Amino acid sequence: MVTSRHTYVVLLGAPGAGKGTQAERLESELGLPHIATGDLFREALKKETPLGLRAKSYMDQGLLVPDDVTVGMVRERLSKPDCAGGALLDGFPRTVEQATALDALLAEAGASVTVVPYIKVSTETLLARLAGRWVCPKCGAVYHMLYKKPANDKICDVCGTALYQRADDTPETQRKRIDVYFQETAPLIEYYASKGLLVEVDGERDIEQVHDDLLAVIRDAMDRAG
Ligand code: AP5
Repeated sequence: MVTSRHTYVVLLGAPGAGKGTQAERLESELGLPHIATGDLFREALKKETPLGLRAKSYMDQGLLVPDDVTVGMVRERLSKPDCAGGALLDGFPRTVEQATALDALLAEAGASVTVVPYIKVSTETLLARLAGRWVCPKCGAVYHMLYKKPANDKICDVCGTALYQRADDTPETQRKRIDVYFQETAPLIEYYASKGLLVEVDGERDIEQVHDDLLAVIRDAMDRAG
């Protein structure tokens, strides 16, 4: 599955912190595939596969999809040839159980997590970002109606498709997802800090500044890992 030289980056942060936005750019700069479990579930749902239909009921309520389903999906994705050198993980792991499963999965191939940049953002900012988010259904580009506007009203700059708001971006579901994050995902901050892998990045600043910090943190960890 992996070679001896590999880089696994876990982008940690609450819903709306900017994980997807940052990963979109880092993917090409680092030459690592961007694996977003939310995108994998949405893709499966679009194709109406059993996995997608099962995930839908959880996603619509702002709840996490069960660990066994999620870990199985990630295991399969990481076995693809493009992940031979590692991956940029966005939205996974999201529970301590998923984190230990990831450790075991990578250990099978003599690999381990390289670094965990934690994009720290206040709840107020998270809600403002989620409320203004519009996404391209075709190419996945992410916009914000205040902070990252498309050139033409609600049309994707990249592929010209009409943008939409995600089904789980209603005010009630946004709140629920943030609550679930604090209950189930925030313990990963301590999990990775205790392993010396966590690096906090101030996510309150603009997209460019956050990007520069993330790139520096990841490159530094890659250098140290040799
Ligand atoms: P998922 O798709 O992963 O959603 P999420 O974690 O809730 O993350 P988001 O995509 O909402 O936020 P983001 O951090 O990527 O922010 P973005 O870059 O878009 O998961 C959806 C669902 O799938 C889950 O609820 C769950 O049901 C299921 N699921 C997924 N993974 C799972 C797992 N591992 N286990 C179990 N279930 C799982 O940015 C947000 C907005 O802010 C955008 O408009 C952007 O333009 C803007 N923005 C970004 N950065 C900045 C900035 N610095 N300044 C100003 N604006 C900014």
